[in-house]
Amino acid sequence: MRARKAVIPAAGLGTRFLPATKAQPKEMLPLVDKPAIQYVVEEAVRAGLDDILMVTGRGKRALEDHFDHAIELERQLAATGKESLLAAVQAVTNLALMHYVRQGKPLGLGHAIGCARHHVGDEPFAVLLGDDLLGEDEKLLSQMVDVCEESERTVIAVMEFGDDALSKYGVVAAEPDPDMEGVYQVTDLVEKPGKANAPSNLCIIGRYVLTPDIFDHIASTKPGRGGEIQLTDAMRAQAREKPIRAIKFDGTRYDVGLKSDYLRATVQLAVQRDDLGPGFVAFLREFMAGIDDELAG
Ligand code: G1P
Repeated sequence: MRARKAVIPAAGLGTRFLPATKAQPKEMLPLVDKPAIQYVVEEAVRAGLDDILMVTGRGKRALEDHFDHAIELERQLAATGKESLLAAVQAVTNLALMHYVRQGKPLGLGHAIGCARHHVGDEPFAVLLGDDLLGEDEKLLSQMVDVCEESERTVIAVMEFGDDALSKYGVVAAEPDPDMEGVYQVTDLVEKPGKANAPSNLCIIGRYVLTPDIFDHIASTKPGRGGEIQLTDAMRAQAREKPIRAIKFDGTRYDVGLKSDYLRATVQLAVQRDDLGPGFVAFLREFMAGIDDELAG
């Protein structure tokens, strides 16, 4: 069976971006002129996942409003002949079939995914974490959906990072899969082990295609790192029963939960835009020349 639903956990408080996130969800922070969450939903849709469940919480109303009709705004744009803006506003509403469920208590990523059980039912599904943005040309998610369909196994995405990252990510032990080019068989998973306990430098990034038996594993997962119910721990239990697969990704990824990556993503996306790119590149050249002059003293 092929995954056709995506789950996007969006209940986090966004403390790293305070005060910007005091009165708005972090998922609504814009990159150029689209909120971060819209890039993630668009990626899911490109991979054929147009049934989307967001797991939200208090203070996340703006997410639902963003993907819903804005009748007055649309009327106003139509009446004033602003056709392209009207199209941009309506395109967001028509992107996907959106559903929402609230997590209630912040008990961890595993728990948030567990809240999707009723909606997902007995089929494989994708999970996209909103802090991870991938380049718009990347095909990672559709590859993962393909591998899950073919192998009937959970598929995760990993990247090789330096030692500093080993306390920030789930880390896996894995061996190349003899039957599938570019695919790994995962033999162990540990949540944020740190350098001393890490089985490798292969870190889990925020894209998963999970088989539905994960829900039983989540239900029996005890609080782990940080006192939270960790998805990594549930997948570890799952892997013991049914080996899971990993795809190693080496394309463009931003962790927009980090201010430095958020800024990089903003600059790169602006440069790629036909309407803004040329003028912005000219500005960047001048700006960098100024910095170089300053450094040369
Ligand atoms: C979560 C997962 C972790 C994964 C990471 C990817 O951590 O628990 O295993 O490596 O996402 O971004 P978080 O960033 O929510 O702390």
